[in-house]
Amino acid sequence: MSKKPVILVTRKLPDAVEDRLKRDYEPMLNPNDTLYSADEIIKMASKADAILPCHTEKFTSEVIARLPDSIKAIANFSVGVDHVDLQAARDKGLIVTNTPDVLSDATAETALLLLLGAARRAGEGEALVRQQQWKDWSPSFMVGVQVTGKRLGIVGMGRVGQVVARRARGFDMNIHYHNRSRLSPDLEDGATFYDQLDDLLPHCEFLSLNCPNTPETVGLLNAERIARLPDGAIVINTARGTVVDDEALIAALKSGKLAAAGLDVFNNEPDIHPAYRSLKNTFLLPHIGSATRETRNAMGFRALDNLDAIFAGREPGDRVA
Ligand code: DGY
Repeated sequence: MSKKPVILVTRKLPDAVEDRLKRDYEPMLNPNDTLYSADEIIKMASKADAILPCHTEKFTSEVIARLPDSIKAIANFSVGVDHVDLQAARDKGLIVTNTPDVLSDATAETALLLLLGAARRAGEGEALVRQQQWKDWSPSFMVGVQVTGKRLGIVGMGRVGQVVARRARGFDMNIHYHNRSRLSPDLEDGATFYDQLDDLLPHCEFLSLNCPNTPETVGLLNAERIARLPDGAIVINTARGTVVDDEALIAALKSGKLAAAGLDVFNNEPDIHPAYRSLKNTFLLPHIGSATRETRNAMGFRALDNLDAIFAGREPGDRVA
């Protein structure tokens, strides 16, 4: 029997995924879930045929150039691939895959959680209860913004954006969106399309960021764009922190231009801009968009499907480079 391919797995994966890895491969597992440095990954990779990383490991062009020739593929446990320099991978002849589709529902759930949490001041309210600071009920106590029937603008109407729209319709929200291209009428489902992001913004009582991190989207929500939002708008981000200009968002939250923000992703995670923590009108989560048992299993199995195809000499379903 030929030797099983060796897979360097950079983080602790769900048990069922590790069981399948052990059955079909020689995995180099990380039972303690240690965050490996680039040097450690490069060293361990000399014994491996492929790497199964998460977005927490950065594969810059320098790292990719230093990977040993034994490595044929980077099969990511993530839909986002902004942590991998795809051109450098192509130049080195590496196959790169991701895990689309399987995390759309979980991420959209998180977007709705943020939307409701930010609008209804859930973080602030929970802290009052936990810290025994809840003294009384009054008509003016903890009054937030109603979600039902409001206009939701979605930037990036890909897989996740479309599920966000469907779930938001359950709250009778009116969907407006900007995307690189207009969706077909069945996918659009009555949503209003704006060819230009700047034209969408004045219509957004809520704004959900669902676009990928690309050079074009870095700093997309900047001071000029925030100024175009209606006063009292609420911003939700489950995409990537890079899409937001932190200083501009924080200034707008401080001035009251924006009523609130619900954020699951940040620049420089987990060392986020400290002002987010001190503001009362932020509802903050630690990048848990895809963190459900079902989705994390599905992401792992999808990464393994890609590896299976690669080592069987077939084209992997989710090839991005
Ligand atoms: C993704 O899959 O891109 C999520 O953000 C987790 O990495």
